[in-house]
Amino acid sequence: MDKATTFPISLSGYEIEGLVGIDAPRLVPLYQACSDYVVLERGQPPDAATVKEEFETFPPNRTAADKFVFGLKGVDGEVVGLLACDRNYPREGCWWIALLLINKALRGRGLARAFCDDFFTWLKSQEVERVELGVLTENEHALRFWQRQGFEPLRLAGPVSIGTKRHLVQIFGRSL
Ligand SMILES: CC(C)(COP(=O)(O)OP(=O)(O)OC[C@H]1O[C@@H](n2cnc3c(N)ncnc32)[C@H](O)[C@@H]1OP(=O)(O)O)[C@@H](O)C(=O)NCCC(=O)NCCS
Repeated sequence: MDKATTFPISLSGYEIEGLVGIDAPRLVPLYQACSDYVVLERGQPPDAATVKEEFETFPPNRTAADKFVFGLKGVDGEVVGLLACDRNYPREGCWWIALLLINKALRGRGLARAFCDDFFTWLKSQEVERVELGVLTENEHALRFWQRQGFEPLRLAGPVSIGTKRHLVQIFGRSL
């Protein structure tokens, strides 16, 4: 599986692109359109470094080889959504979702749900059995979103410091 890997998306007018570090500048408008989330996460709005970090931050004992960043592109080529994940973390057969972002102007239309459903269908076809992720407990909307996608709360982690903020993190998991 290389970094150009994509999966079929059921949303008409959209496609998935596998993104790598040099694509970071193309993601700046998306991060700016998701400033609400970045401020909640780190206490300050995004800049170019925030986006670059997405490609350079790995869970313990993992490297860039295990990182996959999928962009959701509209017909004009603009990236309006992002799903960043780490393969085989925290264990073999389980993928870890590091971040899901949808441009604020396009939220509430089912884009994230379809993005995730299609991603999970593809993961299942790759013999992946499970997905896990962490949600900042302050992010109430995301806590509800993931539970509606069938994720179950597993445990609380933290506190972790991000930028000027300190967070508790709710870990969720779901079998595919
Ligand atoms: C969490 C997030 C990814 C959800 O994205 P989204 O595209 O708005 O999600 P969806 O539209 O699929 O579902 C969200 C809501 O829209 C509703 N919805 C689903 N399909 C819909 C449709 N066709 N028309 C209208 N609403 C719809 C869902 O039922 C859900 O209901 P809610 O309003 O009660 O929450 C988005 O809010 C986001 O980017 N937040 C900032 C980053 C973040 O918190 N990420 C998660 C942490 S990892």
